[in-house]
Amino acid sequence: MTETSTGSSPSPSRRALIGWGGAGLALGAAAAGGAVAMARTGDDVDPVGADTGAAIGFHGARQAGIATPVQDRLHFAAFDVKTDDRAEFVQMLKDWTAAARRMTAGQAVGEGAYGGLAEAPPDDTGEALGLKPSRLTLTIGFGPSLFEKYGEAFGIADARPEALEELPKFAGDNLDRNRSGGDLCVQACADDPQVAVHAIRNLARIGMGKVVIRWSQLGFGKTSSTTPEEQTPRNLMGFKDGTRNIAGTETDRLEKFVWVGEEDGPRWLAGGSYLVARRIRMHIETWDRTSLQEQEDIFGRDKGEGAPVGKAKERDEPFLKAMLPDAHVRLAHPASNDGATILRRGYSFTDGTDGLGRLDAGLFFLAYQRDPRTGFIRIQRNLATDALNEYIQHVGSALFAVPPGVRDKDDWWGRTLFGKEA
Ligand code: HEM
Repeated sequence: MTETSTGSSPSPSRRALIGWGGAGLALGAAAAGGAVAMARTGDDVDPVGADTGAAIGFHGARQAGIATPVQDRLHFAAFDVKTDDRAEFVQMLKDWTAAARRMTAGQAVGEGAYGGLAEAPPDDTGEALGLKPSRLTLTIGFGPSLFEKYGEAFGIADARPEALEELPKFAGDNLDRNRSGGDLCVQACADDPQVAVHAIRNLARIGMGKVVIRWSQLGFGKTSSTTPEEQTPRNLMGFKDGTRNIAGTETDRLEKFVWVGEEDGPRWLAGGSYLVARRIRMHIETWDRTSLQEQEDIFGRDKGEGAPVGKAKERDEPFLKAMLPDAHVRLAHPASNDGATILRRGYSFTDGTDGLGRLDAGLFFLAYQRDPRTGFIRIQRNLATDALNEYIQHVGSALFAVPPGVRDKDDWWGRTLFGKEA
């Protein structure tokens, strides 16, 4: 990360903005299995070979962090709004955008972490100095409570999407209020945890007095990918996770299942998506005493290869009737849910222990979809009889409407909602 802010973001002409749902990976698809990755030197971007230090383009028709390749680390934060002054809130969104633009390019916020006025706190907190951009993506979303609490004050009451309703209660839910909801969220993903944490910390600092962090979650070890050509990651239960996910290159399926269409309404959300976040605790200790056969029956896939029951290879088409009726894959599969399909982007978490000698660990489930009613809600209802439920519990929950991308250097997060054309 560069140490001061002289100069502008890397020139778009040096960025080949490719597929990946409109957000570009700088000068080629490093994580898409080849090409060139970048690290920042000064305010310019130079090829350093394919590594995970690359910069992901911030500007595009879609926000990065959805269909772009899944990074290894997560810091997710849900915020509550503390001001009812529309102008002040909008200014914060603009300040956040400027900071996000710089941080995703590997630059320090504002005037940097040192060298400025000795009497004032520095613009940047400094812990990411010298670190690569690490494919940092920052993705913003607006929760139902933003419209409920500030709809009138911010003049956005009429712009509330019909689908942006609090999620219903599902069988087995044991939700902690303090880990649920939020007026807005920022998902920070990066290959270096310090880069992700730095990003959330600096946004929270900029937002001081206007927003406050309601809850946050650190994640490691992605549990699904949008790059099927890479090895499928494993979750904390030891199974390959994300095999049958939507890939970042599947433009047609992204249009059909992930991006909100012009005709879906409201207009400000077209090109955006809906994000469901669920903190799912795993009863790891019980799972670890469960026989291999039972573990495989529960998912309907084998543990080594990840092949569906009766098939040899991970990518073989699942034959659902060969699985037990309560197998996770059988119940979650589109064929069991009127075709419902979501883009999963979750991470494992371990937040120490629970005081009873058990790990507080599990899956921080993140899923993007065009409409939560025909996406997550449809599938989660069908998972009421999931054999996996004996080993997991949903303890946190949130839903956000994720606006389209920031188009260029004059654009800002939330403009389509708060700007004149909303
Ligand atoms: C801790 C909780 C969970 C674990 C450990 C887990 C694990 C897995 C595993 C190992 C697979 C098979 C590989 C794959 O295709 O990705 C899978 C598939 C899937 N899961 Fe989960 N999952 C969990 C929760 C959920 C939830 C809450 C949902 C959505 C409501 C969900 C939706 C899906 C879907 C849609 C598939 C793909 C089914 C197919 O098309 O074959 N999972 N999950």
